[in-house]
Amino acid sequence: MTHLFEPFSMRSLTLRNRIGVSPMCQYSCHQGFASDWHLVHLGSRAVGGAGLVIIEATAVTPEGRISDGDLGIWTDAHAEPLARIARFMRQHGAVPGIQIAHAGRKASRKTPWLGDRELTAEEGRWTTIAPSAIAFSDNYPTPEAMSVEQIQATIAAFVQAAERSLAAGFQFLEVHGAHGYLLNSFLSPLSNTRTDAYGGTFENRCRMMLETVRAVRQVWPESLPLGVRLSCSDWMDGGWTIDDSIALAMLLKKESVDLIDCSSGGISPNARIPVGANYQVPFAEAIKHQAGIATAAVGMITEAMQADAIIRTGQADLVFIAREFLRDPYWPLHAYQALHAKTESPVPLQYARAFPALR
Ligand SMILES: Cc1cc2nc3c(=O)[nH]c(=O)nc-3n(C[C@H](O)[C@H](O)[C@H](O)COP(=O)(O)O)c2cc1C
Repeated sequence: MTHLFEPFSMRSLTLRNRIGVSPMCQYSCHQGFASDWHLVHLGSRAVGGAGLVIIEATAVTPEGRISDGDLGIWTDAHAEPLARIARFMRQHGAVPGIQIAHAGRKASRKTPWLGDRELTAEEGRWTTIAPSAIAFSDNYPTPEAMSVEQIQATIAAFVQAAERSLAAGFQFLEVHGAHGYLLNSFLSPLSNTRTDAYGGTFENRCRMMLETVRAVRQVWPESLPLGVRLSCSDWMDGGWTIDDSIALAMLLKKESVDLIDCSSGGISPNARIPVGANYQVPFAEAIKHQAGIATAAVGMITEAMQADAIIRTGQADLVFIAREFLRDPYWPLHAYQALHAKTESPVPLQYARAFPALR
C-alpha cells in the first residue's frame, strides 16, 4: 500500500518520500537577493528529511514582488546565492524546488510584520499591474490594466526566471497560479473583465496561464518536472470553481505539466473559507482523479497519521506542509518515527545518536 515514506517519481526525478515543504515567503531579502537566512531555513528542512523543498514565491520582475522583502530572480546575479541553497538541499537528499511568481495587483506592499500596507513613495512603491483595473480591496490601489505587450513581456520574464532557476540547480519548478496573484487574477472572472483574447470566456481567461506554461516548458528540460499551484476555488459566488480547476488541469497536462499543487482562495478578502484540517484535500482528490494528473494536497496538514492517510487513500500523490514546518523543521523525522516506517531512514548520520532506533 502506498504511504507517506514511499518514494515518488516524476520524470527523471525520484523524491525520497511524499513530503514537500510548501513555498513560504520569508520577507528577508534586500533587493530580491537570498540571504544566509534562506540557506539555514531551507537547509534545515532538507536536513529534516523533506522529499521536496520549494523555495518561496520568487519574483520574475521587481514589480512582481509582493513586498520589498521578497525574493526575486530577475537578474543572473539573483541566481548565485540560490545555487548554493539548491546544492545544499541536494547534498542532503531533498529535491530543490522553486516557485516563480508575479504578485500582480497584490504587489508593492510592506513586509507584513512592518505593517500590512502599501509601500510609500519614499519606500519605492510601484504601479501594480493586473488583467483589469480592479483593486483587490479598499486597502489596495487600483492596478493598471495590462496591455498585450505587457502580458508578453511578463511571459518572457517567467521564461527567463525558469532558465535562471535551472542554471541555479533547481530540479522542480512551480509556476505560482494561486492566491490572487497575477496568473490567478487572469483566471478568475472576479478580477478579469477584459474583452480581448485574455478575458471573457474560460478559454480566454486561461490564455495567459497556458501561454506562460507553454513558454516555460520550452526552456525547462523534459527530464525535469513542472508544477503549477492553483487556487482551486475562489470560494465566492460567481468566481472560479473546482470544475474550472479540473478543466484547466486537463489543459495543463497537455502542456506537459506534471503536478497540480492544490491550494485555494486569495482573489477576494470577502471569501468565506471553511478553514480546517484537510479543507483543501478534496480539491487535490478531484483533480487527481478527474483530470488524471498528479496532485499535492496542502493546508492544515499537521499530523503524521493525517498526512499518511491522504497518501494511503489515494487522495493526493504528495502532501505539502507549510506552518507545521515552521514549528518543526524535523517534521519528517518525527513522522517517520511515529509511523514506524520501514523505508530508507531519512535521519542524517550526524543526528543518528538522537534517533537510535531509526538508523
Ligand atoms: C509565512 C508564510 C508564507 C507563505 N508564502 C507563500 C508563498 O510564497 N507562495 C505560496 O504559494 N504560498 C505561500 N504560503 C501558503 C503556504 O504555502 C500554504 O499553502 C498555506 O500556509 C497552507 O498550508 P499550512 O496549513 O500547512 O500552513 C505562505 C504561508 C505562510 C504561513
